[in-house]
Amino acid sequence: MNEEIQTQFKTPFEQDVYQGLTEYPKYLSSKYFYDKKGDKLFQDIMNMPEYYLTDAEFDVLDHHKEEITSLFSSNGKEFNLIELGAGDGKKTKILLKYLSDNNLPFEYLPIDISQNALDQLEDSLRLELPKVQVRTQQGTYFEVLADIAKLNRTRKVILFLGSNIGNLLHPQAISFLTSVQELMHEGDLFFVGFDQKKNPQTILNAYNDQTGITAAFNKNVLARINKELNGNFSLDDFIHWEVYDPETGTAKSYLVSKKDQKVEIKDLSLTVNFREWETIHTEISQKYDDSTVTWLAEKSGLQIETQFTDSKNQYKNYIFKKG
Ligand code: AVI
Repeated sequence: MNEEIQTQFKTPFEQDVYQGLTEYPKYLSSKYFYDKKGDKLFQDIMNMPEYYLTDAEFDVLDHHKEEITSLFSSNGKEFNLIELGAGDGKKTKILLKYLSDNNLPFEYLPIDISQNALDQLEDSLRLELPKVQVRTQQGTYFEVLADIAKLNRTRKVILFLGSNIGNLLHPQAISFLTSVQELMHEGDLFFVGFDQKKNPQTILNAYNDQTGITAAFNKNVLARINKELNGNFSLDDFIHWEVYDPETGTAKSYLVSKKDQKVEIKDLSLTVNFREWETIHTEISQKYDDSTVTWLAEKSGLQIETQFTDSKNQYKNYIFKKG
């Protein structure tokens, strides 16, 4: 895209939408699923029986909390527990409760882009776990993490749960893991959730529920374009389509145009033409195995300290240290 066009964009959202919808094949980033409505839809997804990831990670944390927290607190030494993308903290509360009940010295620093999510988390923690010291940090992961690393030499344990890593392509995941690794010191730990390869049907069902919640979540990016950029997408003229490749472990989400159509996006002065059955690629949800995680760790300068799995062998949490 040339310089002239780029300078007319007021926000990264405008630029990314323009870029993705003028490319062939078309694409939009899944990071734009999340506004107030998208956050609520994702909460609903996490409560669906088909979306096994949440229960699986809950199971890992619940069954291994003693061992995990003992590694975190490394013989009772004080540490900062920093969570990237904290959300409602439902799973993290298992660890927080165990640490707090055992009077282990730590401070909890949840980082999230949404101040609203942080306020709700802080309120719920004050009620449920009043002994836990919480310092919420609003901003993007790296800005905040870099500030914490600069100002504070207390040992760090960094959490990145929910297989959020899976929404990144491998090169992006490596650059993300490397950036965290560069902010770590000896003794710091990085605890990351990775959804595992499994029966392909189980994976497809998780991203293709019959109630249509995932479809609404996927289409929320179009709803946002309509609302925020004066677009006129007709959401019913697109279908949500999920594919999973068991060889690469990549689940991919698409929106597929049901007919030839033109969509106007007024704020971008853009008309987008769709042919019947043309696609917009919106999300990847990568599934892993041990060799892939080992490869990612090596490429990122990290070393696997240990790993924990759930009782059905569907999901793993790895603890990394600086390599
Ligand atoms: C946030 N992320 C890890 C979810 C996933 O599983 O890729 C987002 C999601 N997309 C569809 N369902 C859930």
